[in-house]
Amino acid sequence: MGQANQRALVAYDSRLGSTAEVAEFIGGALSEGGASVDINTVSEVTALEVYDRVVIGGAIRYDRWLPEAVAFVRKNRQILLDTQVAFFFTCLTLAKPSPETERKAEAYAAKIRQIAPDLRPTSVGRFAGVLEFARTPWPARLLLRALSVTTGVAEGDYRDWQAIRDWAMKLEAPR
Ligand SMILES: Cc1cc2nc3c(=O)[nH]c(=O)nc-3n(C[C@H](O)[C@H](O)[C@H](O)COP(=O)(O)O)c2cc1C
Repeated sequence: MGQANQRALVAYDSRLGSTAEVAEFIGGALSEGGASVDINTVSEVTALEVYDRVVIGGAIRYDRWLPEAVAFVRKNRQILLDTQVAFFFTCLTLAKPSPETERKAEAYAAKIRQIAPDLRPTSVGRFAGVLEFARTPWPARLLLRALSVTTGVAEGDYRDWQAIRDWAMKLEAPR
C-alpha cells in the first residue's frame, strides 16, 4: 500500500543547516511513496490538522533537542494525538558508534518521548550529523572544538543517507 492521497508534513528545526537537509531528504523519500509532502521549519507551520502524518526533527545541542522543536510538540500535542507522528534528531554522539554512544542516543530519544508521553510516535529516528567548524559561528565554534576534542570526533559530514532513507521508507510501510 502506498501513501497516495496522504498529506505529510516534515517540520524541523536546524541551526546550521544540516538537519534542514535531512528534513528535505526525508520529505523526498516520503513523496516517492505517493504522499503529498510539505517541508517547513517548525516556526513556519500553520494548519497542522490537514496532515495525516507529521515528522518532526531537530538537532541536538547541549544534550537536548532544539527548544523550538520541543515547544512545537508541546504546543501541538492535542492535534498530533490524531495523526501518525514520528520524531528524529541529528547529533554528533552517533558519529562514533559504540555501546556508550548508543546509550547516550537512547537517552536523547527518551527525553524527546518525554515531551508528550501520550503521543506514541511511530519511531524516533537518530542520525549522526555534521561537524564543520567553518559553518559554526563564534562562540558555538569554541564549544564544538571542545566537543570534538573530548569525544574524539573529527570534522566531517557523518550523515548516513542510506540509513535516513531506510528509516523514512519504513515510516511509509502499512501499520
Ligand atoms: C553548539 C553546539 C552544541 C552541540 N551539542 C551537542 C550535544 O550535546 N550532543 C551531540 O551529540 N551533538 C551536539 N552537537 C552536534 C549537532 O547536533 C550536529 O552538529 C548537528 O548536525 C547540527 O545540526 P544543524 O546543522 O541542523 O544545526 C552540537 C553542535 C553545536 C554547534
